[in-house]
Amino acid sequence: MIKKCLFPVAGYGTRFLPATKSMPKEMLPVVNKPLVQYGVEEAIEAGMTTCAMVTGRGKRAIADHFDINYELEHQIQGTGKEIYLESIRNVLDQGTFTMVRQREMKGLGHAILTGESLIGNEPFGVILSDDLCINPEGDGVLAQMAALYRQFRCSIVAIQEVPEDEVHKYGVIAGEPMKEGLYRVESMVEKPSKEDAPSNLAIIGRYILTPDIFDIIRTTEPGANGEIQLTDALMKQAQMGCVMAYKFKGRRFDCGSVPGFVEATNYVFENIYGGY
Ligand code: G1P
Repeated sequence: MIKKCLFPVAGYGTRFLPATKSMPKEMLPVVNKPLVQYGVEEAIEAGMTTCAMVTGRGKRAIADHFDINYELEHQIQGTGKEIYLESIRNVLDQGTFTMVRQREMKGLGHAILTGESLIGNEPFGVILSDDLCINPEGDGVLAQMAALYRQFRCSIVAIQEVPEDEVHKYGVIAGEPMKEGLYRVESMVEKPSKEDAPSNLAIIGRYILTPDIFDIIRTTEPGANGEIQLTDALMKQAQMGCVMAYKFKGRRFDCGSVPGFVEATNYVFENIYGGY
């Protein structure tokens, strides 16, 4: 039912310099697949086959990745190496890719608003591909959230418990428990100090958003770090109507940090990589 997924992929990837000097951080491979492709596969699995990318300068490699490379196809066709193209061919067969450029880096809220022209007036998913989410036991995280959307018809954020001394890195929620792993959001703070955090339930980079979020973002003032924060807009949406927070099933790796990236690489190599 939800057909589109937005990928904010304009960020700089400062923590991975010099690797990200001329290469988008979303193209860093976890074993043999770029981070952003894991996200796209998760969206497609959830039925969101239109992938809307909010890109920026220096991100052309992402657009090229989700397009045919004729020379490569021609060279490899009919050889034993075709198997290496299998996963990206599957993605290209199933997905449609649209792009818009974010000219200035003004925060996640601003990136989402920049994607409005690609999304229009319908509910949509959001994947922050830095957060690599894997559920070896069943549906991916976005598919789990899409199923919940069908039931509740409101915005949903993915959450995970984090240690108290890490809450300052995240958007943090507090809410009324509805059922196992599901909360109705009552409060939401972007990058709080340990003292100001309403709980240790941190937002992870998976969202389902209803399209009224665009108008709300338009009137949202810059917040934490001087940026227009999606979290602040979602808090307003929660006050006016309903936002749910969902403790997802599966594992999440913070691939925006070097230790998380290394952990993801080891996990994927040991548990998922086919080795051919
Ligand atoms: C963003 C969001 C934050 C969320 C995080 C998840 O922050 O603003 O609410 O907890 O993603 O990865 P960023 O990591 O871009 O600073």
